[in-house]
Amino acid sequence: MAQKLKIGIIGAGGIARGPHINGWKQVADAEVVAVCDISKGAAESMAREHGIPNVFTDFRELVKLTEIDAVDICTPNRVHTPAVLAAFARRKHVLCEKPLAVTVREVKQMQAAAARARKLLMTAQHQRFSGISTAVKQFIATHPIGEVYHARVHAVRRNLLPTNPGFIDPALSGGGPCMDIGVHALDLAMWLMDSPMPVRVSGRMMTNFAMGHDIPGAWGDWDRKLFGVEDFASGFVHFENGATMVLEASWLQHQQEKEDMSCRLFGRKGGVSWPAGHYSSAANGALFDAAIQAHHVQSAHAEEIKAFAHAVRTGGPSPVPVDQTIKVIAILEGIMRSSERGGREVALNLRNGK
Ligand SMILES: NC(=O)c1ccc[n+]([C@@H]2O[C@H](COP(=O)([O-])OP(=O)(O)OC[C@H]3O[C@@H](n4cnc5c(N)ncnc54)[C@H](O)[C@@H]3O)[C@@H](O)[C@H]2O)c1
Repeated sequence: MAQKLKIGIIGAGGIARGPHINGWKQVADAEVVAVCDISKGAAESMAREHGIPNVFTDFRELVKLTEIDAVDICTPNRVHTPAVLAAFARRKHVLCEKPLAVTVREVKQMQAAAARARKLLMTAQHQRFSGISTAVKQFIATHPIGEVYHARVHAVRRNLLPTNPGFIDPALSGGGPCMDIGVHALDLAMWLMDSPMPVRVSGRMMTNFAMGHDIPGAWGDWDRKLFGVEDFASGFVHFENGATMVLEASWLQHQQEKEDMSCRLFGRKGGVSWPAGHYSSAANGALFDAAIQAHHVQSAHAEEIKAFAHAVRTGGPSPVPVDQTIKVIAILEGIMRSSERGGREVALNLRNGK
């Protein structure tokens, strides 16, 4: 491996130009040496702004650069799988934005390609790296909340609908808020629960407001002709250990909060809420509560990128193991499949290799 870790970024949009490039600048022994975007102007302007020497418009060309050790994939969701597979074919390590893919089949394809290439695959679930997330995780490890029998997961917004085609055109996004932001709160809840095995899912997806004009989008207006995803999804999950979960995701709905991105875990000895950082329990007829203090973290995205770079350097395991991502995507895909079947429950069969 070259002295400095050499990075290629694929997709020069919002997440790449903000949190990712800033994250890479915080890794002293890494440098971004290439950028690719199908929009030449986007790739060139990012290269100019950040002194990136190599510019591409086709990721298949970027991954041919032998000096590159790892790629950071920041394209729309449906472009993740081909970019990840192209990178592993050229034996690069991969950090890829969420959702890693929108089907379990594709995530497993990536997992197999990573194993063949003997390279690291990490989903960019930055929420795991925030100060409150690591504090809640540590709190649960040191103050067991007992068996978690239920989780409540929210990723619901009042009027925050991302307007770029990559989010609302199903050919690019593969789903609406369920895949876009449901994945954040769900991944966080699953991680806090130590990734139990989901076995059955039911759910509904709806488009209640996005085709109308009553709710003004705080991020601007969107193209209704392009809009082909849900604006609301709900799901109910059964786990192998008997636990259950309810999940709600929306970009537009009548609620007080601009955004509620949260989860609550209910254990037999105590409950925790994230990101509120609240612990509740009771013993011998007395209720008690405690606040969980967040660790000091400036940027969860930067911590995520540092964790990826460290794992690549040390040959360590993926900081976000793909086996955990498979369960998360299985739940989200299950909600979509169930909704297509009018809300009928679907079996996930992850243990049977399906
Ligand atoms: N972790 C987070 O908090 C977070 C936040 C926003 C977005 N994301 C994820 O990051 C990804 C990108 O989101 P964004 O907000 O940057 O979107 P964006 O629309 O701002 O940028 C996407 C970029 O990818 C480019 N692109 C499209 N197809 C391409 C291809 N085949 N090859 C190369 N470039 C291609 C587009 O031209 C565009 O510049 C999505 O998967 C999204 O879910 C994550």
